[in-house]
Amino acid sequence: MEQDLRQLQADAETNLATLDNLKDLEEIRVRYLGRKGLFTSLLRQLGQVSAEDRPRFGKLANKIKEELEQKFNTRKAELGASDTGAAGQRDDLSLPGRLVPFGRLHPVTQIMDEVCSIFVDLGFAVAEGPDVELDYYNFEALNIPLHHPARDMHDTFYINDSILLRTHTSPMQIRAMEKEKPPLRIIAPGKVYRCDSDITHTPMFQQVEGFLVDRKVSFADLKGVLTVFCQKMFDQDDIRLRFRPSFFPFTEPSAEVDIGCVICRGEGCRVCKQTGWLEILGAGMIDPEVFKMVDYDPEEFSGFAFGLGIERIAMLKYGIDDIRLFYENDLRFLKQF
Ligand code: DAH
Repeated sequence: MEQDLRQLQADAETNLATLDNLKDLEEIRVRYLGRKGLFTSLLRQLGQVSAEDRPRFGKLANKIKEELEQKFNTRKAELGASDTGAAGQRDDLSLPGRLVPFGRLHPVTQIMDEVCSIFVDLGFAVAEGPDVELDYYNFEALNIPLHHPARDMHDTFYINDSILLRTHTSPMQIRAMEKEKPPLRIIAPGKVYRCDSDITHTPMFQQVEGFLVDRKVSFADLKGVLTVFCQKMFDQDDIRLRFRPSFFPFTEPSAEVDIGCVICRGEGCRVCKQTGWLEILGAGMIDPEVFKMVDYDPEEFSGFAFGLGIERIAMLKYGIDDIRLFYENDLRFLKQF
């Protein structure tokens, strides 16, 4: 009996030493120490041993069982550290790693950054203001009094009679001029809101307002700055600009500015609707009435201002015909930028 027990212990230990994964280990554990295993069947023979020898063998059997259990546990811990589990396979260190998907900046944010950095290179400082704005800054101080028809063009989200979501970034002209005296060279990027939605309008969109105030600023300075901006923005040194007379209450004279179509270069295409021109921004010389609102002397100072829509520039640059694509969060669209 003693020899049988020792033999079983030796066999189990040899097996334990040669196996190399958790699956085999479990199999062998069951074979030796399981309820119907070899050890149990050996113990059954204890009944046939003389009553005198039985306690000694019993003790020995228990000791061997305990030792084996200990060894199985130790081996299990060793294997566990380098085993992948149920499949019983080790890690394959030669497998390529899992690709972590990279995020990226939204195309509108990319264009916004590009626009701002061009103006910063030209010496403009960046100023930001509130999205929830006073009627005073959004309209009144920009020479758009309460019953002025120009208010019609801005489909305004009102919060109450005097507070609204800004419909453009022009109020930053007033906020900046109230704070500082000329000379002033500022751009104000940000979100604006209008109650409007179709393929060229979304209820929220983004604008950059720019303005420069100093002594003897002329329309030629405005043309120069906008020309350099368009050259850089559309990577075309020979880009053509066209200034069409227009009206904005806060500038006089005012203009709408077109560029030669960047897709067909003037030949006529779908994007420019066969005209060869694309409207890209509104601009003008700051109206003396606006200067009076901020206590600047219009006899001493002059300045220009312009406002451009970021989505519009992105649409022109990439030939996109539906502005809503920017705000649908469809990765198939967004991943292209
Ligand atoms: N604020 C105008 C708008 O959102 C855009 C604009 C036009 C801004 C002419 C200007 C400007 O500064 O001179 O429609």
